[in-house]
Amino acid sequence: MAKNLDLKSYIRNIPDFPKPGIMFRDITPLLANAEAFGESIRQFADHFRDEKPTAILAAEARGFIFAAPLALELGVSFVPIRKPGKLPFDTHAFHYELEYGSDSLELHTDAVGAGDRVLLVDDLLATGGTMQACAALTKQCGAEIAGFAFLIELDFLNGRENLLPHNVMSLIHYN
Ligand code: PRP
Ligand code: ADE
Repeated sequence: MAKNLDLKSYIRNIPDFPKPGIMFRDITPLLANAEAFGESIRQFADHFRDEKPTAILAAEARGFIFAAPLALELGVSFVPIRKPGKLPFDTHAFHYELEYGSDSLELHTDAVGAGDRVLLVDDLLATGGTMQACAALTKQCGAEIAGFAFLIELDFLNGRENLLPHNVMSLIHYN
């Protein structure tokens, strides 16, 4: 089994991208390795299966990469949250701040609803602004949050504190 894979060793560190002072954690080497990518999806599924999520939500673009295979692995819905003007049906919208900028996100009003237990997934937790926006959109639809799953967490930005008391799980940490 691949259980002992060091997932962190598949992350490439790029200094000063996209601007000075940011150490960019590049996930593309991990995605290029089927064993490492598959192991990350299995670890997410193993951690959250007992929470019985009914839907996996993620924001574009990098969140989709992990959320879609996880939804298939758990046999539940995949629901996309997108940047403004991309979703064709009625939407809820939420504005949020990033580690390096700001943006808005939208979710179809009928994507999830009362009775849904939603697992929110992303490649990386920095300030938590993206996931706070996704959580707010989820609640606007009337659904419950089952937890948050991240490949990478930047511990020093304390984004996790913005997501508690929910179950927050990350596979790789930087501090
Ligand atoms: C990145 C990353 C997370 C978010 C984390 O996305 O994929 O979604 O930033 O930062 P936060 O915790 O401070 O919100 P980005 O907005 O760069 O978009 P992308 O996925 O389209 O590259
Ligand atoms: N998104 C926000 N901060 C990031 C970082 N340091 N590396 C990669 N993606 C990010």
